[in-house]
Amino acid sequence: MKGVILAGGTGSRLRPITHTGPKQLVPIANKPVLEYAVDDLVEAGIDEIGVILGNKGRDEIQEYFGDGSDWGVDITYIVQGEPLGLAHAVGCAKDFVGDDSFVVYLGDDLMREGITELVEDFNSEEYAAGIGLQEVDEPSRYGIVDVNDEGDVIQLVEKPDDPPNNLALIGIYVFTPAIFGQIESLEKSRRGEYEITEAIQGLLDDGKRIQSHVVHGWWKDTGKPEDVLHANRLVLDDIKTSIDGTVENEESVTGRIELGDGSVIEEGAVIRGPVSIGEDTTITSDTYLGPYTSIGDNCVIDGAHIESSVVVGESEISAERTIVDSLIGRKATITANHEKKPDGERLVIGQNSSLEL
Ligand code: DAU
Repeated sequence: MKGVILAGGTGSRLRPITHTGPKQLVPIANKPVLEYAVDDLVEAGIDEIGVILGNKGRDEIQEYFGDGSDWGVDITYIVQGEPLGLAHAVGCAKDFVGDDSFVVYLGDDLMREGITELVEDFNSEEYAAGIGLQEVDEPSRYGIVDVNDEGDVIQLVEKPDDPPNNLALIGIYVFTPAIFGQIESLEKSRRGEYEITEAIQGLLDDGKRIQSHVVHGWWKDTGKPEDVLHANRLVLDDIKTSIDGTVENEESVTGRIELGDGSVIEEGAVIRGPVSIGEDTTITSDTYLGPYTSIGDNCVIDGAHIESSVVVGESEISAERTIVDSLIGRKATITANHEKKPDGERLVIGQNSSLEL
């Protein structure tokens, strides 16, 4: 079975973080979201993956994963271009998947327990497709599904205003090639996209059966900044201590931490895990890093107090302030204004930024 990861789209809900790169490369505990998808597919025994690319961040994704050999898989890149919808993106993989069943994984989704069970559970003799489901709190943000007592899907609807229940599509699908006929006959939805939810509904309308699989470990769609921070907390909850860099005084570190090669935690800094620090980053002596914080590669954190936040990388933060629940994009600089005249914060904010002061 082959795997297809959808990594196109615009990432508009994650601006300005996605002005400089694709949302699928936003790091969660110092690993791009997309890499979790690749790892899950590999774990499920898939060794050929097609990655669907949009116009944004195409080169960065190809540069990061190359031919896939570092992950023990063959990666083929397929350009979708404009984000015309999930069904259109899946349709782009038609030649790549050929005549077999295949798994589709949305490239901005993350799940704790991987997809092996769901993939192994799929019965291609009886069903035309299989979908992963989980109960959610905000059903109008997702594709919502009705199932019968045997777990067969009876209806699907994409982001309903008035959701019939809270059982959502989590962005893992197993398809037989029957899906391509449905995709070809779709029309654009009211939000202007070719919806995979409608293509699956088309299979049902043709009398085919759709299998459902409720996923129990946590699952997170990282579409919005608060989702990225939440996913970061969930992943950090499971990390084990691994120290490749230098901790000048071990007593200043409590809890579990990851510290990448070439990084230094200077004597006097206080770190309370779980915390993940990438490579070649310096945490100076008067810094405090609190639980659920990830700091990327090549950063200098000098005197700040940071908690429950993600610093993507190549940033310098030297303001002696408390930063919480924040997502700080690549190459950001945060310095202190010592003059403080007039009293207030001095800000240089890019287009589509979002600040909560
Ligand atoms: O996260 C689960 C939800 O994902 C499901 O409940 C919905 O039924 C499903 O439609 C989808 O909704 P989203 O609004 O979250 O989809 P999004 O636009 O974020 O796209 C999901 C992934 O697919 C993301 O990695 C970008 C990629 N994509 C998206 C579009 C629209 C493409 O590769 N091509 C596209 O044309």
